[in-house]
Amino acid sequence: MIYQRLNDFPADFLWGASTSAYQVEGAWDEDGKSPSIVDMLDHPQGTADFQVASDHYHRFREDVALFAELGLKAYRFSVAWTRVLPAGTGEVNPAGLAFYRQLIDALLAHGIEPVVTLYHFDLPYVLEQQGGWSNRATIDAFVAYAGVLFDAFGDRVKYWLTINEQNTMILHPGAIGMPKGGALPAKRVLYQQSHHMLVAQARVMALCHQRCPGGKIGPAINTTSMYQETCHPLDAIAAHNWETLRCWSFLDVAVHGRYNPLAWRYLQDRGLAPEMAPADAALLQAGKPDYVAINYYSTATIAASRGDGSDVSARAGDQQIMLGEPGVYRAAENPFVGKTRYGWVIDPVGLRLTLRKTYERYHLPILITENGIGAPDELQADGTIDDDYRIEFMRRHVEQMLLAINDGVDLLGYCPWAAIDVVSTHQGYAKRYGFIYVNRGEQDLKDLRRIRKRSFGWYQRLIAANGRLDR
Ligand code: BG6
Repeated sequence: MIYQRLNDFPADFLWGASTSAYQVEGAWDEDGKSPSIVDMLDHPQGTADFQVASDHYHRFREDVALFAELGLKAYRFSVAWTRVLPAGTGEVNPAGLAFYRQLIDALLAHGIEPVVTLYHFDLPYVLEQQGGWSNRATIDAFVAYAGVLFDAFGDRVKYWLTINEQNTMILHPGAIGMPKGGALPAKRVLYQQSHHMLVAQARVMALCHQRCPGGKIGPAINTTSMYQETCHPLDAIAAHNWETLRCWSFLDVAVHGRYNPLAWRYLQDRGLAPEMAPADAALLQAGKPDYVAINYYSTATIAASRGDGSDVSARAGDQQIMLGEPGVYRAAENPFVGKTRYGWVIDPVGLRLTLRKTYERYHLPILITENGIGAPDELQADGTIDDDYRIEFMRRHVEQMLLAINDGVDLLGYCPWAAIDVVSTHQGYAKRYGFIYVNRGEQDLKDLRRIRKRSFGWYQRLIAANGRLDR
């Protein structure tokens, strides 16, 4: 659609930025915090772990002041479950709660809307030892934990997110890191875990509506569009297979409270269908989101499966993420898009398409909770970080967001990844995303000084102009 006249971004558009607790906070065992599963992962030789990360736990006031200088209207962060409930459930750790209270109050004092993710990959290790998400008791633990946060902060937090990228945890568990010994759960186990997460999510959404008057809550799924490699009808079926299994199957349960029919048939056929407790169908129906959050990085291009092992390949530049599945889809190349240095497809138009599809499907407002480019940003001798590639990446995505708004999509805001440099899921500080550089290496903590990148000034001007820059 080419429009004759474009409407602007809405005046209350939430220009924001994101982080997650374990990737930014550090202080991994301080003030009563217990280890989470990510603290216990194997780290590739020489790669930063999460013990100090960006030391946000000790420097959050300085960081929030920088976010305010950037002009952020929203800041999306996650709460470390292990800080608030070190035993996973039961007794609350007052120091953990106090940290988040201070963070939220500092944000509000600067007029920044907190957007709080309840759970971003960092399940308490103590719960993992009891079976983690395979154990139904984790559902109750998650609901109890969410209740603690709703009671503590429901009066000042309006936007909540349930679980970050459940689809990544289930479909690409290695993307988050490798457990010691390297064994990832079998698919059957993962889909049972996924079902428990879906029930937990529905219960938490219902609880939020009971406990937080005016509060809004939604899922945060890594959402994208799949292109078919050719106009061969079987390529189209394969692209639809994978888009459904990877994205809609998770969002359909969150929004409609029932499994997607194609996804359910797949699970049944492969012997992967989860066991459901008698009350689960009603529980899934009882909790509904107010908005949908999407993390968008790339699109993928898909060809028909050949039905054998040749369908499976490692994602370019990343041996921990396998793509393709016999009988479902095969990953293909797209000659019309660019790639980052890490092999991630760069496709701003794909964001417009994904926003359209998501809105058409659910008719709920959408918040973009992640989008960004990972790069080995370098601090120059003159103290600058010239991340023009990041400016270019975001400028092109912002243009497409405006087109999506003009397409009729109700887009609440944009929280790119990341507000400040964080530890990448498994590539340490070699791969950075922030507007603010953190002066540390993989092992050498240096002075952890905060330095504004060139993209900081660009985003600041963009926010001040409510997205009108360069137009
Ligand atoms: C998202 C996650 O999938 O991608 C983040 O929610 C993550 O936690 C981000 O950091 C970028 O991925 P990576 O592997 O480059 O850190």
